[in-house]
Amino acid sequence: MRHIKIFDTTLRDGEQSPGCSMNLSEKVEMARQLEKLGVDVIEAGFAIASPMDFRSVQRIARAVKSCTVASLARCTKGDIDAAWDAVKEAAHPRIHVFLATSDIHMQYKLQMTREQVLQRISEMVAYARSFCADVEFSAEDASRSDWAFLAQCYSNAVAAGAATLNVPDTVGYSTPQEMGDLIRYLRENVAGVENVDISVHCHNDLGMAVANTLSCIQAGATQVECTVNGIGERAGNASMEEIVMALHTRRDFYDAETQINTKQIYRSSKLLSSITGVAIAPSKAIVGANAFAHESGIHQHGVIANAQTYEIMNSADVGIPQNTMVLGKHSGKHALREKLESMGYELSDEELESVFQRFKTMADKKKNITGSDLESLVLHRRNNINPTCRLVGHSINTSTSDVLPTTSYIKLERDGEMMEEVAIGSGPVDAAYKAINRMLGMDVRLEGFSLTAVTDGEDAIGEAVVKISDGSGESYTGTGLSTDILESSIRAYVNGINKIIEAGTAHD
Ligand code: KIV
Ligand code: ZN
Repeated sequence: MRHIKIFDTTLRDGEQSPGCSMNLSEKVEMARQLEKLGVDVIEAGFAIASPMDFRSVQRIARAVKSCTVASLARCTKGDIDAAWDAVKEAAHPRIHVFLATSDIHMQYKLQMTREQVLQRISEMVAYARSFCADVEFSAEDASRSDWAFLAQCYSNAVAAGAATLNVPDTVGYSTPQEMGDLIRYLRENVAGVENVDISVHCHNDLGMAVANTLSCIQAGATQVECTVNGIGERAGNASMEEIVMALHTRRDFYDAETQINTKQIYRSSKLLSSITGVAIAPSKAIVGANAFAHESGIHQHGVIANAQTYEIMNSADVGIPQNTMVLGKHSGKHALREKLESMGYELSDEELESVFQRFKTMADKKKNITGSDLESLVLHRRNNINPTCRLVGHSINTSTSDVLPTTSYIKLERDGEMMEEVAIGSGPVDAAYKAINRMLGMDVRLEGFSLTAVTDGEDAIGEAVVKISDGSGESYTGTGLSTDILESSIRAYVNGINKIIEAGTAHD
């Protein structure tokens, strides 16, 4: 079987999608999860883009040991210097340089001639190679470029030392047949192509990113670029979980495999969604809530008789927890650790303590603690370890009458100091958020709010997700969890505010 390398760009192209920005510690946490998942390459960011991007690429380069860590760079010395500075401490560093090669991009964006582009590729790939043995070259908008010119660009990149040639369908315009034909053409027309990896990077504007990627694999691509949950610019990138499970489930057809630990797929997807607050559509293949659910009686009957009647994959293979009762209110810390380890979560003592405290509170309110309940507690653990502000208590009086206002009383602890405030509002959430703003002296604005049940049943846990901004133009995602939906809403707001405070401190 052929080995296909997975180049994950969740933290670079994925992070460019609206609402998907992550802070430094979240990016490092996601990178560690990608390492567990077994991706070959993590594109950690675009080092030159901002000091924060640089720091996160550098932190990931230091933290990750078993994957290659790449930084993106345009074909300029400044970008390449920054990329190398950021990745040089990685166990396996890579510089990923790109330059557009389509006529439309060269004329209107770059204002460069074909000759200038060819020369720049040779010079900048060689410049990147003077620092780093592992250089990838991407011809941006490759799929809309003139094929003969494109082959010349890639030949120059190989001659200058590139080890990977990436072929992006930058605007998601191509069809599977065209992308496959392009890869076959490049394999025949690029000098030295037999010694390098051919990679593809497909966007999903026409919903064909995964199909295009798979077609390129059939045509001989050896690396694919993708993101968890398919996040990315506009309609996103090819979805990692769909490519991996297509290759896994249809090994008979593709005769190709990845080194992904498929049991970590669901966890990676949930972690990303909990960090960004971007929900996964229920019908999303592989990781959506309905991906393994059978609603119609005929299907249910078939599955009970023989699962293979309607199931082509096993939910356990992608790591979906089984929602049976797993622990109760008398379970101790040891049992909790064992259960979490069996679910694939290894927590530090400090993290376990925080999850255990929340588990005990939950077990007082909820009879059956399921795998999904535990998972949500683990995913929210970072909200509860050394936060700047912590919710101590709240009391809300709601009113539907015009004469009696809805009032809130909120008590917070900020850096060890107790604070309290009351406010009136147009509803309970509004009243609570106004009290918090006033107490902290912050002008926080609510830009988005959603509430979902994490598990089924009357005592389901509600997860609130808020998008807030502090007026600086940046927006932050906060998440909160509780069996009481007002409490989850307040926790989510406080979590978002902690991120604003953390970002302010990081800038200082
Ligand atoms: O879509 C694209 O062309 C890219 C390149 C920078 C690889 O993201
Ligand atoms: Zn892209």
